[in-house]
Amino acid sequence: MLSLKDITKKYKDKVIFQNADFEATTGEIVLLMGQSGIGKSTFLDIIAGIKSFDSGKYYYQNQEIFPKNDEQMSAFRNQTIGYILQDFALIDDYSVLENIILPSFYNAAMDTEAAKERARYLSDKFDLTEILHSKVKNISGGQKQRVAIVRSLILDPPIILADEPTTNLDAKNFDFVMETFKEAAHKGKIIIIATHDERILNIADKVYQVENYKLIV
Ligand SMILES: Nc1ncnc2c1ncn2[C@@H]1O[C@H](COP(=O)(O)OP(=O)(O)OP(=O)(O)O)[C@@H](O)[C@H]1O
Ligand SMILES: [Mg+2]
Repeated sequence: MLSLKDITKKYKDKVIFQNADFEATTGEIVLLMGQSGIGKSTFLDIIAGIKSFDSGKYYYQNQEIFPKNDEQMSAFRNQTIGYILQDFALIDDYSVLENIILPSFYNAAMDTEAAKERARYLSDKFDLTEILHSKVKNISGGQKQRVAIVRSLILDPPIILADEPTTNLDAKNFDFVMETFKEAAHKGKIIIIATHDERILNIADKVYQVENYKLIV
């Protein structure tokens, strides 16, 4: 169970969240919806511990997470969270394969060879095999989106955060990514998706609307 309670987040004086609550249970697909600029990416960044918050509490599996404790937070993030960022955050001059296995360099539980093997397996499923050795700067937007998705899965994390993961996908890859999320949830992962894409409502267990500085179910 992932739970954030009474979260207040400001950028300088600008309030983004005020006393917002969020909960997600094992096996759930949860959506964050709401207009552009309302705070969806900010909330995913808070869950990922990339951004801290001004007040409130963050718990994962009954353990309190302290975003300001860098050491705890980066270990937690690396072991627990796969994040598909809105702008992908891939390294342009690295190959697709190098980008996909990058999280394994910071994780003692998976060595490079195991990561490469899993990368090849996932790349095959996501139709990326042919471009594994291409530099990211030379691939298409939809391919980058799939690389970011595969990278988020490489360490098989229990929580997957996805920020607008479908904007660049064609119909076939859209369906495939939905199947992937459903399967991951079925295995007990928590999937949290920030999106404007109403097609994703079909697979959601819970939908939060971000409005009035809160998350409303
Ligand atoms: N680092 C920052 N410093 C100051 N303000 C920021 C920062 N990051 C985001 N903001 C502001 O916070 C608000 C929420 O931004 P956020 O990116 O979370 O919105 P969003 O709901 O993800 O929007 P979109 O649907 O366009 O992706 C916006 O008004 C944005 O300008
Ligand atoms: Mg956003």
